[in-house]
Amino acid sequence: MTKARIAVLVSGGGTNLQALIDAQSSGIIHSGEITLVISNNAGAYALQRAEKAGIATEVVLKKELGSQAAFEERIKELLTVYQIDIIVLAGFMSILSETFTSCYPKRILNVHPSLIPSFCGEGFYGLRVHEAALNYGVKVTGATVHFVNEIPDGGEIILQKAVEIQPDDTPETLQKRVMEQAEWKILPAAVEQVCSML
Ligand code: GAR
Repeated sequence: MTKARIAVLVSGGGTNLQALIDAQSSGIIHSGEITLVISNNAGAYALQRAEKAGIATEVVLKKELGSQAAFEERIKELLTVYQIDIIVLAGFMSILSETFTSCYPKRILNVHPSLIPSFCGEGFYGLRVHEAALNYGVKVTGATVHFVNEIPDGGEIILQKAVEIQPDDTPETLQKRVMEQAEWKILPAAVEQVCSML
């Protein structure tokens, strides 16, 4: 059986990328192969994680390309060159337009660090999501993996996992627990699920 070719789009530390790489090594992901990592930040540590794992990397900078349209065109070109089947947004901190997302229906996955529809949409990313959950006072949060469409964080949900909030949590401690208990588990599981159905 031919494996689905996966591209992972990143912006920062890349712990979710690492979870995908580890899941591929351990066989949790066996219907797909991480073929390419694209970063919109040349300094992203995620790029080093990819290189260490022997995965091709590309850097695409909006500032250099001059516009969102040119930025997305360049990403599309790379996805074509590398014959990508599945796109995973793993800590990718740039919203993709409908022009882009409509080219890949049910082919783009995103991991979001809350239980959607809470604390999601434009402006909710990274630590801000956990700050918002703590400020609201919810006792349970979690993570969601969903398909990406034209609505930020609005596409069909694939997997979710709940995580309890502790009384002394800070945004940082909560982010770490949500990653460890939810994101790093449901992202590889969702990627395998989608690849296995192609
Ligand atoms: C993760 O918590 C991810 O869910 C979140 O950013 C972090 C990236 O960490 N993504 C979003 O907030 C997207 N809206 P990582 O680079 O270590 O994977």
